[in-house]
Amino acid sequence: MRVIVQKNGGKDHVSTATVDCRLLPSTDEGVLSAIADTPLVKLTRVLPDAKFDLYAKLEFLNPGGSTKDRPARSIIRHGMDTGMIREGTVIVESSSGNMGIGLAQVCAYYGLRFICVVDPKTTSQNIRLLEAYGAEVDLVATPDEETGEYLHARIARVRSILEKTENSFCPNQYSNLYNARAHRRTMQEVVTVLGGKVDYVFCATSTCGTIRGCAEYLKDNDMKTRVYAVDAVGSVIFGGEKAKRLIPGHGAALRPELFQEGMAHECIKVTDLDCIEGCRRLAKREAILAGGSSGAVLMAVERVKNEIERGATCVVIFPDRGERYLDTIYSDKWVEEHFGDVAHLWHSASLRNG
Ligand SMILES: Cc1ncc(COP(=O)(O)O)c(C=O)c1O
Repeated sequence: MRVIVQKNGGKDHVSTATVDCRLLPSTDEGVLSAIADTPLVKLTRVLPDAKFDLYAKLEFLNPGGSTKDRPARSIIRHGMDTGMIREGTVIVESSSGNMGIGLAQVCAYYGLRFICVVDPKTTSQNIRLLEAYGAEVDLVATPDEETGEYLHARIARVRSILEKTENSFCPNQYSNLYNARAHRRTMQEVVTVLGGKVDYVFCATSTCGTIRGCAEYLKDNDMKTRVYAVDAVGSVIFGGEKAKRLIPGHGAALRPELFQEGMAHECIKVTDLDCIEGCRRLAKREAILAGGSSGAVLMAVERVKNEIERGATCVVIFPDRGERYLDTIYSDKWVEEHFGDVAHLWHSASLRNG
């Protein structure tokens, strides 16, 4: 498989609060019934010289604000259907972002107590969102001694809470097959709307739930769609050296158990600056305010656009929305502090309507 590297260069506390549990039949799902069937829109401005059709799956229009609503609902539903989650079960997961918020939404709906283990890199906005849904936020203040990674420390913290909490359940998004399974439907929705013509799909990767679910659907339906994984420079999912990254969402410091050799035909690695450029171009050209990994997938398409044949249908999946990045990607001050004067990247005269 080809790996393409893009150009640019706590607090320990467990609450014992009780909850009322409203485990409901799956036919009566209120806001959760608004998860999935997200819009697929054609992008005509952001890559004006493209000879192919480009469509974006707007996963940020899920009610919790990201694609993670799908696996959150699928994993909790499966747990309820099999009896692993029942009256009084405490859900415990490590997440600094979208999965935590997706789970907080689903758990709030079912009246399940949810402890979300986060680290100091979690933004205050995400912590406030988690708390607004009623989740308990458990902050791991120091990284793992051996690896220096917060991820390892968060995983250890989840284990310790599970051990001392009776009737507890960990969704474990990095290994749970119901994460990937939820995304078979993501791909099915795309294929249905496009009448079966999907030549390329670009997915950002972290747990690999999205890409694996999409790839499994394509394989099961004998489709020849070429699958591109979009990973971060500094992430180790598809190999390479671990390095510091500023934009959260895609990428991982560990290869997740859901990773499967062959699920992607190619991997394109993008930098933090690529994400910013992609996001700013999307906002300026398409009026789409999306999160960092959406910018990443756009720039991955840009990277290989000359290899995509005329008339092909190409799909990008946009996982989350831009509001969660107002203090970083969409802050001129933050961008200048970290990358210098780079605004010419999205003000380029070569872009239409510039
Ligand atoms: C913003 C964003 N983009 C991409 C991904 C990667 O998706 P997956 O975990 O399904 O590989 C995530 C996962 O958390 C995410 O939050």
